[in-house]
Amino acid sequence: MEYVEIFEVGPRDGLQNEKRQIPTAEKIALVDLLSGAGFKRIEVASFVSPKWVPQMADSADVLAGITRADGVSYAALTPNMRGLEGAIAAKADEIAIFGSASEGFSKANINCTIAESLERFQPVAEAAKAAGLPMRGYISCVTDCPYDGKTDPAQVAWVAKELLAMGCYEISLGDTIGQATPDSISTMLDAVLGEGDASKFAGHYHDTSGRACDNVEATLAKGIRVFDAAVGGLGGCPYAPGAQGNVATEAVHDRVIALGYATGLDRDILDKAAALARQMRAG
Ligand code: HMG
Ligand code: MG
Repeated sequence: MEYVEIFEVGPRDGLQNEKRQIPTAEKIALVDLLSGAGFKRIEVASFVSPKWVPQMADSADVLAGITRADGVSYAALTPNMRGLEGAIAAKADEIAIFGSASEGFSKANINCTIAESLERFQPVAEAAKAAGLPMRGYISCVTDCPYDGKTDPAQVAWVAKELLAMGCYEISLGDTIGQATPDSISTMLDAVLGEGDASKFAGHYHDTSGRACDNVEATLAKGIRVFDAAVGGLGGCPYAPGAQGNVATEAVHDRVIALGYATGLDRDILDKAAALARQMRAG
């Protein structure tokens, strides 16, 4: 049976946008529950400015407080050298740099142009390599941008090429505002897959329009086998107006199982984690 990997991003992408400052202990409890579900990678932290994203200010405490399971890589976002230093000090197992395929979102999210962001990432990439830390890359707004409208697939391919050249082991392609369709995803992937084979890419789809699972299916058809998702469909991005939750882990799990793939995940634990995530949201 062919395997599809779900990269759980709930504790980071899921929680970063919550208005209520969620106590660190609750975040740790969610991660500890998820650690037993069979994930190989869980994104739990983000070393960004606490003024920009207050919810992630306790990332070091989360990494210090969790019980690390064997075989699980605990990941953190690192937008710059300061973020990387935080991630290394907190013993994140891997890091991610995050850029955008659209200028409007780049400016709104990380306060610089795409070209400037690539310059900023270069020393992060070099230092991560020197520290032996695997580095993932994100590209936001791969089909649609809340500021600039439709994204040119060639632009996504260009950013993917740059991030791969910097040493990212995988590029996660973000439909940040959940406006993609199977058609627009397929067109974008045709451009991106000119820069690397399918094993270098992952789909990261928000479910604003309820099409995320259909977009997962269109992505599977192009050979990609990794998808980011958040238990309970938590999430959004504070700098992407209208961005709703990440596609729910349970939904992606059920869709790919129905299509005949294996995920290696424990569905009962996913249900428990989704319930906990919803409870955290409700406060
Ligand atoms: P800036 O203002 O251009 O940078 O922000 P700066 O270097 O001038 O620093 C400004 C302030 O932030 C300074 O503090 C720095 O010390 C501090 P002040 O002097 O004002 O007190 N600072 C930091 N603090 C902690 N950790 C750091 C750090 N760096 C600077 N690493 C910056 C640039 C990138 C820092 C800022 O724009 C930022 O933090 N942005 C983060 C936005 C964010 O986290 N967005 C959500 C994640 S991306 C996402 O969700 C999309 C994704 O899911 C994929 C998808 O769905 O598309 C990944
Ligand atoms: Mg996201």
